Amino acid sequence: MNVCVIGTGYVGLVTGVCFSSLGHHVICVDQDHHKVQSLQDGVVPIYEPGLKERLDQNRNEQRLSFTTDMKRGMAQAEVIIIAVGTPANKDGSADLSFIKRVSLDIGHYLTPGVTVVTKSTVPIGTNRKIKQWIAFSCGHQQFSVASCPEFLREGNAIKDTLEMERAVFGVEDAVAETVLRQLHEPIPTTIVVTSIETAEASKYAANAFLATKISFINEVANVCENVGADIEALATIMGLDHRIGPSYLQAGVGYGGSCFPKDTQAFIRVAQQAGYDLQIVPAVEKVNKEQRQRLFNKLKSVYPPSLAGKRVAVLGLAFKPNTDDMRAAPSIDLVEALHHAGATTVGYDPVAQSQAERVLPNLVRTSSWQEAVKSADAVFLLTDWPEFKAINLNELKSLMNEPIVIDGRNLFKPEEMLKYGFYYDSIGRTKVDGRSLSGANVFSKALYTQTGTK
Ligand SMILES: NC(=O)c1ccc[n+]([C@@H]2O[C@H](COP(=O)([O-])OP(=O)(O)OC[C@H]3O[C@@H](n4cnc5c(N)ncnc54)[C@H](O)[C@@H]3O)[C@@H](O)[C@H]2O)c1
Repeated sequence: MNVCVIGTGYVGLVTGVCFSSLGHHVICVDQDHHKVQSLQDGVVPIYEPGLKERLDQNRNEQRLSFTTDMKRGMAQAEVIIIAVGTPANKDGSADLSFIKRVSLDIGHYLTPGVTVVTKSTVPIGTNRKIKQWIAFSCGHQQFSVASCPEFLREGNAIKDTLEMERAVFGVEDAVAETVLRQLHEPIPTTIVVTSIETAEASKYAANAFLATKISFINEVANVCENVGADIEALATIMGLDHRIGPSYLQAGVGYGGSCFPKDTQAFIRVAQQAGYDLQIVPAVEKVNKEQRQRLFNKLKSVYPPSLAGKRVAVLGLAFKPNTDDMRAAPSIDLVEALHHAGATTVGYDPVAQSQAERVLPNLVRTSSWQEAVKSADAVFLLTDWPEFKAINLNELKSLMNEPIVIDGRNLFKPEEMLKYGFYYDSIGRTKVDGRSLSGANVFSKALYTQTGTK
């Protein structure tokens, strides 16, 4: 099929590359000249494992190209995919200005019979508006619209597209369903055909549920700290129940990224506008915000009365591993709080260094974790990159001014940190202070009781 993808960000680029891998002919359109130029030069502007290789292959095989020219992009298209951003407005509602702009532009060049599919996450009712906007600018209704919400996870986006667990087709006519079936034909997946409204709502509901799981386990972790229970063992026990499942039960600093924070907020507004006040989702958001503050307080309590003048290293800046996406990353709030408290911050991330420069101008960025922790009075661990899991604890301790580690991802084991002589606090586990301990029998003096699983 001939496909035009409009918006070449995390979703649009992955979609374009993957659909061309399936044999479709794809033209990706973006208004960002710099981005399009990079892509035409074979430079991928985001970090996503496996994307560059597929992009090169499909470009070489003439199935994939990039342009800023909407008319050119749409000229041969049988299907047009909208993948532009829907960021949050100040009040939390979804900003539909990019969607509206693109819909009006589509109308200018639309050939009758084409299906316009929205992958962007949009409030319920938006695809109906898209139809009106397009019709307004093209002057006819000879086209179909469909909602095909995107469920990919950054860092795993290729697999999530080529082996998607489900494809949701929100359609109002048979033409759109046939086109979407053809487009997804080579992907072995479960297809759910439903109404446009249900498809739109399903994305918000799915993200709100995953965010709920994260905030729930974080609340349980906070209780664990007060009662001496261990969240890691507890989450394993819960996850073994197939009705619950183990995913999204990792206690930590809370969720961030381009989706959960804005989509939970937008869902609250969507429900409000429809006359229903959600109860659970606002609580999920509140817990998530407080979780960042809790982590900060853990460090504050080590240095009473003030963190002024302390040098704090932040390991991990992206909101999760395997991406360079800094949108709503916990590191942003933590670094701001540290500066506000008078501390200086030094940070390192394996791939998000340049993205971090834009959002964390006061953070001194380094090119290795060793450089970041050098002479630090404390380390905050915020992203569970494999590189950090492999840190040599002896080396870490020897580089730091004070061996204090606050682990927002439960990456290290408290008993190990105790053995190496760290003050170590994490999420939902008993904190340990090994600074005055040395020698082989430290465990006899340990504050920590092991509750791990076999
Ligand atoms: N990032 C994710 O993990 C993810 C996952 C699922 C769904 N989504 C949803 O997908 C949508 C896109 O997200 P993203 O992260 O890819 O956004 P993004 O900000 O990375 O990319 C959006 C792109 O659209 C381009 N654009 C904006 N207006 C345009 C126009 N008029 N013409 C051409 N290009 C235009 C921008 O230049 C940008 O490159 C959002 O609604 C998001 O909620 C994102």
